[in-house]
Amino acid sequence: MKIISSYSIKGGVGKTALAVNLAYAFSEADHRTLLLDLDPQGAAAFYFRVSSAKKFNMGDTNSLSGGLRRNIRESDFPGLDIIPSSLAYRHFDIALDGMEKRRKQLRRVLEEFKDDYDTIILDCPPNITLLSENVFRASDLILVPVIPTVLSQRTLEQLDRFFSDEELPLDRLCPFFSMVQKRNKLHRETMAELTAAYPQFLKTTIPLSVDVEKMGLRRMPLLAYSKASDAAQAYRTLCSEIISLQENVCD
Ligand SMILES: Nc1ncnc2c1ncn2[C@@H]1O[C@H](COP(=O)(O)OP(=O)(O)OP(=O)(O)O)[C@@H](O)[C@H]1O
Ligand SMILES: [Mg+2]
Repeated sequence: MKIISSYSIKGGVGKTALAVNLAYAFSEADHRTLLLDLDPQGAAAFYFRVSSAKKFNMGDTNSLSGGLRRNIRESDFPGLDIIPSSLAYRHFDIALDGMEKRRKQLRRVLEEFKDDYDTIILDCPPNITLLSENVFRASDLILVPVIPTVLSQRTLEQLDRFFSDEELPLDRLCPFFSMVQKRNKLHRETMAELTAAYPQFLKTTIPLSVDVEKMGLRRMPLLAYSKASDAAQAYRTLCSEIISLQENVCD
C-alpha cells in the first residue's frame, strides 16, 4: 500500500483537483483506491456527491481509526472509496497533540488499511500544522501543485526548508506545475528557473483548463466526464509518472 498526499501550504493551487482526478486515475489503473479528504472544506467529497462524515471521537488511536473506517463510502466508480471530511477535523491537531508519538499517528492509523487498499490519496488543507507533519511522515509521496508564479515559488522554498530543518525525507517531496499557461512568458520563465533549482519536479504539467473548473458543476472527476480532454490526459500521464516513480523510489 502506498500513501500519496496532495499538499501545499498555499491555497487554491489545485490540490483537490489533483486528489480527485488522481484517485480516479489510480482506480482506472486497477489500484484499490481510497481518497481521504482531510480538509474541513470537504471539497473532494463534494465532487463525489457524498455527504460529510458522521461525527466520531478522535481522542485516541483506536477511536480515530474506528471513526475513519466507519465513514468509508463507496463512490459511483468501481475500486474507488472515499472517506469524506467533517467539520470535526478542525480538532484534528488538538486530538493528535494529546496522543503518544503525535507526529506519527496518521501513518499508524492508515497502516491498518493496508490489506484493503493499494493506494491511499490524502487531500490536505492549505496550512502547515501538526496534521501536516503527520501527513509528511505518513506519505510515500507528497505531491505539491505549483502554479508557476513568484508566490508559489516562495511557498515551495518554505516547504523545502521545513523538510530540511525537520530532517524529513526530501526525496518524497514531488512538486509539479499546476494551472500552466504555456503561452504565458512569465510561466515559461518561472518553470525553467524552478526546474533548474528543484530537479525533483515531475515532468508532467497540468494545464489551466476550463474543463477542470467544470468539475464544480458536474460534481465528478474530470476523467469521468471528459476523458479525452488535454487536462484529463495530463492527470492520467501524471498518474503513470507517479506509478513508475514509486517503482524506483519507494520500495
Ligand atoms: N488545472 C486547472 N485549470 C483550471 N482551473 C483549475 C485547475 N485546477 C483547479 N482549478 C480550479 O481552481 C480552483 C481551486 O482548485 P482546488 O480546489 O483544486 O485548489 P486547492 O489547492 O485544493 O484549494 P484549497 O487550498 O482551497 O483546498 C477550483 O475552482 C478549481 O476548479
Ligand atoms: Mg482543496
